[in-house]
Order: sequence, then structure tokens, then C-alpha cells
Amino acid sequence: MLQLGVNIDHIATLRQARYKTADSAPVIEPDVVAAAQEVEAAGAHGITVHLREDRRHIQDRDVHQLRKVLRTRLNLEMADTPAIVAIAEEIRPDEVCLVPEKRAELTTEGGLNVIGASSSLRTTIARLRRAGIVVSLFIDPDSEQIRAAADVGAQFIELHTGTYANHGAGELPKLISAAELAHKLGLRVNAGHGLNYQNTTGIRTIPHLETLNTGHSIISHAVFVGLRLAVREMLALLNP
Ligand code: PXP
Repeated sequence: MLQLGVNIDHIATLRQARYKTADSAPVIEPDVVAAAQEVEAAGAHGITVHLREDRRHIQDRDVHQLRKVLRTRLNLEMADTPAIVAIAEEIRPDEVCLVPEKRAELTTEGGLNVIGASSSLRTTIARLRRAGIVVSLFIDPDSEQIRAAADVGAQFIELHTGTYANHGAGELPKLISAAELAHKLGLRVNAGHGLNYQNTTGIRTIPHLETLNTGHSIISHAVFVGLRLAVREMLALLNP
């Protein structure tokens, strides 16, 4: 069965937009941990959060709390930097997905250059695996990067579906061959980025896929699934 990991970074984005400098306010919303629990209650198979170096959305305490309460899997997206690797070793998420990170980007913009960073990645992956964490590398559907991912000791790759999301089904053959090659090399295969309610069905043609990690579109859709009820509840408070 194809599994769903839900990225809840944007719940934290909304919280930070209002409460970044007011973290002792009596009500701080939306609650990231409660959101993760809603996601689990709906049947998702895991929660994904990206602890960015600039802490623009998810905070360290979110990851600590999620680690304590989640009943499914915690997948921590992170850059391969010493400070963040040390945090991962301490928190021990079920999985880490190593991603490239640029300060100015709005979201992760491309896959890792595994070939260019192989020595550091090899060391980091060994450290994380020693801590009992399953390690995935977020990469473009590129055969050389996939071979390098197997070579540095990753257990999973997460195929970057952003180009497919932007350009459509013409990009599927690349993702299909990438998944086939990864499987042949003993790598397990996840995918994600830019997936939404329109383009996700096409992704199901990719073989060997285990988990799709999706964030922005689910959180965006949730606004419309819930907005009418939220307004009604406020109206009821005004005129009980
Ligand atoms: N997978 C990875 C590695 C990501 O960096 C992201 C974005 O944080 C996602 C999946 C989810 O992407 P989206 O928010 O576009 O669904």
C-alpha cells in the first residue's frame, strides 16, 4: 500500500507569523502537535517536519514534543550540518531525510548533490544509522545521483517530484527509471514535493514507491475544508 507522510511545516509557518516573538501568549495557535495528531487520526502513516537552520517554521521544541506523542513515524527533514545532525542524534526520529538547504529559498528547490558531498554524507549517514535512524536522501531522478546514494550508505531515496509537478506527465518516465534503478541497487523509494490533488494520481505509476511526502497542498486544502465551520463557530459565539 502506498503510504502518506504529511509535512506539517506550514502549520508552524502560520503560528510563527503571529507568535514568533510572543511565545508566552495565553493562546498560541495553531498548535503543531495537535495538528500532527489530527493528521494521524485521519490515517496518515507519518509526520514530516523540516527543522531548518533559520528555524523559520518548525522549532526544536516542536520536534521534541512530536517525538514524545506521535504514534506513527516521525520523519525529520534536515540539512547535513553538524548542529542539526547533533539534534537528530539526540531526538532520534524514526527517519531522517537529508535535503539541500539554502537560506534564501522559499522551499527546498532541488535534490541533493550526493556526488559532490559524498564524503560528508557518508559520515553523517553512518552516524545517524548508528543512532537507529533510517536515512533517506532527497534527490532528483538522476542515475548518477542514485548510484551515489547507494554508495554512501542511504537506505532510502526520496525522489524529488517538483519538476513533474511543474511540467507534467512528460517527466514521469524519468521518475519511473529512477525508481527502477534505485530498487535494483537495493535502495527503498519514497517521493515528494509539489504533489497536490490534481497530480498525485499520476505518481502512482512509479514502481517500488513506499511513501509520498506531501505538505503544502494538504494544508492549503484543509483551510477550505474547515473554513466554513470555523466561521460558523465564531458566529455562534457572537450570537449564542
Ligand atoms: N519532501 C521534501 C524533501 C521536502 O523538502 C518537501 C517540502 O518541505 C516535501 C516533501 C513536501 O513538499 P510540498 O510541501 O510541496 O508537498
